[in-house]
Amino acid sequence: MTALRGIAGVEVVAAVDVDIGRARAFAATHGIPHAYQDADRMLATGLDAVTVCTPHAAHEEGVLAAARHRTHVLCEKPVALTVAQARRMIVATGEAGVRFGVLFQRRFWPAAARIRHAIDDGRLGTPISGGVLVRFNRDAGYYAEPWRGRLATEGGGVLMTQAIHHIDLLRWFMGPVRRVTGRCATLVHRGLIEVEDTAAAVVEFASGALATIQAGTTFQPGLGGQVWVSDARGRTASVLEFPEGVGCTDLSTVPGEEVSQTGRLEAGAPDLPLAEIHDHLAPYHATQIEDFLDAVAHDREPAVTGLDAVRSLQIIEAIYASSRTGTPVELTDDVED
Ligand SMILES: NC(=O)c1ccc[n+]([C@@H]2O[C@H](COP(=O)([O-])OP(=O)(O)OC[C@H]3O[C@@H](n4cnc5c(N)ncnc54)[C@H](O)[C@@H]3O)[C@@H](O)[C@H]2O)c1
Repeated sequence: MTALRGIAGVEVVAAVDVDIGRARAFAATHGIPHAYQDADRMLATGLDAVTVCTPHAAHEEGVLAAARHRTHVLCEKPVALTVAQARRMIVATGEAGVRFGVLFQRRFWPAAARIRHAIDDGRLGTPISGGVLVRFNRDAGYYAEPWRGRLATEGGGVLMTQAIHHIDLLRWFMGPVRRVTGRCATLVHRGLIEVEDTAAAVVEFASGALATIQAGTTFQPGLGGQVWVSDARGRTASVLEFPEGVGCTDLSTVPGEEVSQTGRLEAGAPDLPLAEIHDHLAPYHATQIEDFLDAVAHDREPAVTGLDAVRSLQIIEAIYASSRTGTPVELTDDVED
């Protein structure tokens, strides 16, 4: 709601939750006139657009319901638990003729957008190497929410829920992926969660580029995140997320935007409460919602489509498969969009 509030032309008229008490409380808190327990009943009233903010496992049913009622839909990340579900969502919204976007608000950080622009205008060449580093802190309180940490409802751990943002940026910067080799483990939150709290992977791109992914929710305090890329001339750009939720350019040798910051990751820096992390991200959530509404108004694709969301999910699915089998996984259908 923080992100929705104040967007010109947006009127939030209804909220739905399987727990009607939660829907009513949410509506009362935010001055929303109608609360529902059943998504179909809400959608039957004729809404212009909906945003699906349920736990991951319910994203598909929410998006398919929106498609049935020919309502434009913006869905939270991860788009779904599996690539197969995500593809069904793309087909359903396509057949219904409605816009389908997926929330990856970190793409709207100026620090991230700058890297994409530098690649687009050639100041940064096609990346030949890159990486993702996610060192976040999640504790027992976070995993106490019953759907979190369960394979059936969260579908994965740090990769699926946290690092997916950074993997989305990596794929956005570096292009189609050919092969993924990965290992996952539950090393600290064992007994508390069924999913991984630690992951490491090597990603080979169609371009021949190589990247690494290292992610964990085991760091106390959290040490933030980073996505970096480098081209054949050695030009390098990095977006640093520290503290969690706050993104900046910490290193860039892109002509015209040279930046070098060191010493930001001080050991012992406090973790922000989750609500404050979300407050930092809310302006970029709002920017993406505005983009989505503009896409609806002007009959164009949103900045982040269902297919874009499939790309990061494919990489994560491949890391899980590689970790299970001990062998690399080929991605045969990741192509230039
Ligand atoms: N983009 C981001 O940075 C960001 C940040 C936080 C959460 N999220 C995403 O938002 C989603 C929700 O996360 P959360 O932390 O708000 O979860 P939450 O558990 O706090 O809230 C989810 C709500 O959905 C309701 N719900 C469950 N199943 C439902 C269904 N089938 N239909 C309607 N309502 C249902 C629950 O009763 C609950 O009130 C997740 O997919 C998460 O990844 C994204």
